[in-house]
Amino acid sequence: MSNRIRPDQIRTMKGREKIPALTAYDFPMTRLLDEAGIPLILVGDSLGMVVLGYKDTTSVTMEEIEHHLRAAARAKPRALLAADLPYRSYDDPELALKNAQRLIAAGADSVKAEGGRKILPQVQAIVGADIPFIGHLGMLPQSVREEGGYRIKGKIESEREALVEDAQALAAAGAFAIVLELVAPPVAAEVTRSISVPTLGIGSGLDCDGQILVTSDLLGLFPWFTPRFVTPRLNAAEQMRTVITEWRASISSSPRT
Ligand code: KIV
Repeated sequence: MSNRIRPDQIRTMKGREKIPALTAYDFPMTRLLDEAGIPLILVGDSLGMVVLGYKDTTSVTMEEIEHHLRAAARAKPRALLAADLPYRSYDDPELALKNAQRLIAAGADSVKAEGGRKILPQVQAIVGADIPFIGHLGMLPQSVREEGGYRIKGKIESEREALVEDAQALAAAGAFAIVLELVAPPVAAEVTRSISVPTLGIGSGLDCDGQILVTSDLLGLFPWFTPRFVTPRLNAAEQMRTVITEWRASISSSPRT
């Protein structure tokens, strides 16, 4: 029997212990995160920016997520493995379900999509087919072009109200966790108190039930851009540059045969 962490186990961590979640896009990172005891690993569409070199997440395709998800799933983590439904892959309930099923077939235990009441029929179709679902509210990276940038949500009353109502609607529809991205910390705390499922904050303050980060940001693996709310715990890119430069020099200066 698999000892894979189940959505209900993540859900019951609320109020008991904080939930650490990170992204992975391949076999070694999934295995490393799993060996370090991370209970929830996301094959996020941040893949587009930190691995594939796109400007934002809107270019990521289903095929790209599936490809990286299959690599992550080969690590057979104990962690719950979630995957993002990419931009435009859940425009209507039928499409959302079809693509959620594709991600499950590629090795995901759960799928995530961005939006609240606007995507409720899609969430209901996914949950109705017994596919565990994670919500995503606040700054929605897939809407960055319409929004004209990444900005904090919840600073004005209408946004605060919408966030609370969206979170309650997603929880009522069966989401087992909700990511809160760039939500004003007091509002993230209010949303967290107002729902029975865990919130996973990213740039939303400490009063969420857990924290989720793009692993490349945590490790300093993508030095060309670091979100303001992240302090990398490692300068991996710099260390790699040093080792690679030293190795190059050792080869260049070694005697010719
Ligand atoms: O794609 C991603 O990495 C995300 C973050 C919120 C973790 O959705």
